[in-house]
Amino acid sequence: MDTSRLNDLEQVDRDNVFHASTHLGQYARGELPNRIITGGEGIYIQDRDGNKSLDAFAGLYCVNIGYGRQEVADAIYEQAKELAYYHTYVGHSNEQIIKLSERIVRKAGMGMSKVFYGMSGSDANETNIKLVWYYNNVLGRPEKKKIISRDRGYHGSGLMTGSLTGLPVFHNAFDLPLDKVLHTTCPHYYRQGKEGESEEEFAKRCAEELEDMILAEGPDTVAAFIGEPVLGTGGIIVPPKGYWKAIQEVLNKYDILLIADEVVTAFGRTGKYFGSHTFEIQPDLITIAKGVSSGYLPLSGVVVGERVWKVLEQGTDQMGPIGHGWTYSAHPVCAAAANANLDIVDAEDLTGNSRDVGAYFNQAMSTALAGHPMVGEVRGIGLMAAVEFVEDKANKTAFDPAKKVGPTVSAKCLENGMIARAMPHGDILGFAPPLVLTKAEADKIVDITKRSVEEVWRSL
Ligand SMILES: Cc1ncc(COP(=O)(O)O)c(C=O)c1O
Repeated sequence: MDTSRLNDLEQVDRDNVFHASTHLGQYARGELPNRIITGGEGIYIQDRDGNKSLDAFAGLYCVNIGYGRQEVADAIYEQAKELAYYHTYVGHSNEQIIKLSERIVRKAGMGMSKVFYGMSGSDANETNIKLVWYYNNVLGRPEKKKIISRDRGYHGSGLMTGSLTGLPVFHNAFDLPLDKVLHTTCPHYYRQGKEGESEEEFAKRCAEELEDMILAEGPDTVAAFIGEPVLGTGGIIVPPKGYWKAIQEVLNKYDILLIADEVVTAFGRTGKYFGSHTFEIQPDLITIAKGVSSGYLPLSGVVVGERVWKVLEQGTDQMGPIGHGWTYSAHPVCAAAANANLDIVDAEDLTGNSRDVGAYFNQAMSTALAGHPMVGEVRGIGLMAAVEFVEDKANKTAFDPAKKVGPTVSAKCLENGMIARAMPHGDILGFAPPLVLTKAEADKIVDITKRSVEEVWRSL
């Protein structure tokens, strides 16, 4: 190998690395920037050229405990020395995964029973759908298989999970969505609410539209509903008051399972341990990933509630061992990272910090930006927030997407030393900083955002 080529890491990257969610041609041709990240400390990351950025999106809303935590690195090292790997098929286990599972089931409550592990939010949601189908087959309901997701929902980018995702960019040219997947109304009051409709009325309408869809499809064909307690990638959308209660009434009426996709919201992000706690959701299955290990190592899971679990047991009594598993399910080193991470979440009460600093942060963002002529809405909960940009505030008219206003503000924030994410659908700037955020750091995020919005506004 010609190692001298490695001196030009940027070019070697362009020549050899296939980057996720990237304009491949532009990147390969050098028309998009390259940034090689070399380190991180607290809420900051640093690149190879020595530039530091305040990461107001915690990577991809996952580095909840912040960067550079020695405790987690030590736990990984110790576990790798002791037992780097063994599988968990047919009753094999490891101490770290036992400890982790007990704590997740206990903290979740809500009738949760067991945890199955994977490596990504996408694979966990694939597991969810397989379990839902298996469940209905065991119950002798082979027709009850359709899954209802929501427009703008995000559940991953696999075949089934990419189908569940309700964003066109994840479907186009991939022959998705697959059949058996339906999308219902997104609970985005600012965009979907009608003139004169209250939040509660809008929530009720969302539930009615769901019910109409179920009736049109036939309740005996609909197996499950999947939703994020707060929509993330679709635009950081907090549901209207009464939404989850109204939705759950419909699901219960037609015996439809509820999957709470808590890949972003679990482990404190909304100010309580689970987003389901914040919104009083009673899920049958919960998807977890990201915050379980703060991204220090890949880990995801499906938390299975008692109602589904009993049927899974019944199924294996009838058919033998369940035909589902990954080589790396319940990986001991990933579990060690997760336990060390959740020890920090507990010891530093990051859930409480998310609630308190989150309330402060959302208030400050709203005060600083809600009145701006280009800002249609500022919304959020816990340590999640979004600023949605509009061309005409009175009519909520969106900018022409070709103007790329969201990405331009995001790029301006970066120039000003901060990462805020241009969400992929609509001109929305998203924030999900590490849960260790202080009020002073929250002020800094708000200041940089305000300045960047102003600079872009003047240039339009
Ligand atoms: C709610 C939700 N579900 C699932 C996923 C997919 O997770 P992953 O990217 O780890 O496959 C994500 C990723 O952002 C997510 O936000």
